[in-house]
Amino acid sequence: MSVRRVAQQQPESFEFNSENLSWAEQLIKKYPPGKERSAVIPLLWRAQEQNDGWTSEPAMRRVADLLDMPYIRVYEVATFYTMFQLSPVGKKAHVQVCGTTPCMLRGSKQLIEICKKRIAKDPHTLSEDGDFSWEEVECLGACVNAPMVQIFKDTYEDLDEQSLEALLDAFANGETPTPGPQIERTLSCPESGLTTLTNVPEYVPLNLSIENEPKEPVKNDEPVADTKAENAATLLKEKPAAIKQPEKSATETKPAEKTEKPETAKAEEGGQKPETLDGPRNGEADDLKMIKGVGPKLELTLNALGFYHFDQIVNWTPENIAWVDSSLSFKGRIEREDWQAQAKLLSAGEETEFSKRANYGDKSASKTDKPEGDK
Ligand code: FES
Repeated sequence: MSVRRVAQQQPESFEFNSENLSWAEQLIKKYPPGKERSAVIPLLWRAQEQNDGWTSEPAMRRVADLLDMPYIRVYEVATFYTMFQLSPVGKKAHVQVCGTTPCMLRGSKQLIEICKKRIAKDPHTLSEDGDFSWEEVECLGACVNAPMVQIFKDTYEDLDEQSLEALLDAFANGETPTPGPQIERTLSCPESGLTTLTNVPEYVPLNLSIENEPKEPVKNDEPVADTKAENAATLLKEKPAAIKQPEKSATETKPAEKTEKPETAKAEEGGQKPETLDGPRNGEADDLKMIKGVGPKLELTLNALGFYHFDQIVNWTPENIAWVDSSLSFKGRIEREDWQAQAKLLSAGEETEFSKRANYGDKSASKTDKPEGDK
């Protein structure tokens, strides 16, 4: 890894624009008196975003002044973390190539050669047109899909020379390629498909566990919708005794009936029950995970409650939302993530920003967009 030094050529000064300054002042107030310096990283990051993707030395000083910190303390932070760029970066892409052992063993040196050939011989140097720059960094936490690069906030994984060249072509054309694995791998699953856990239900609702495995193993090539419907039906109707709540301490288990209350009963505690289905229409459920905020576990919970299609969600009234909300483990999510607006687009056959990126059944999902329930 190269030594990180501030660029020799620096602008005269840096000042936050009025919007960012008021944001910074509000942020600083969130910290207890005497602890305001803890805001140094978000402030540096905001300065970098305002400053075309790099953190100038005057910007570091401005942050230090805002936080009443010695300049050297801010320099230490900015020069330590590779998220802060210390010299101007490419307008279209700054490529951070992971060179740590797993990526190195899987071909990061070849990726660096591509960067040298296409961008500039030396790291932290702008390409001739100013559109690209690159550097080598330490592990970026996607080793399982090595080798990989990070470009701005996204990671591109399972790369080789050809796919990195294709990525750079796409950025040069002003496109933003889909982040994640650049091969036919789903997230970080094995390239060859599942090798373990192939004979248990795919999804288990939040806070529930299953005592017995199903009699019939779930086959990998079974249609997903059928499997989910079967699991939901099994959990709700056929094997109610097989569902149990997590064990609680003696002080928490006062009303015995409460620990045995099924999810549907919990849902009936508030709001008005929407129209539900016994199973997906024509045996084919919509992929509710295309809604930002719905992960595999939450999708099964929704299925178990009788929701399989986007249009069902579109038609929920505020009372219906309260009813569904009361059964979810993250109350308020429906409105916070605006499920209904997302479901409306998806039911019309359109895509949302999240569904384009997540695309669970196909390729990759951005790590930053993972549903909360799946973290
Ligand atoms: S070693 Fe490259 S991401 Fe961890």
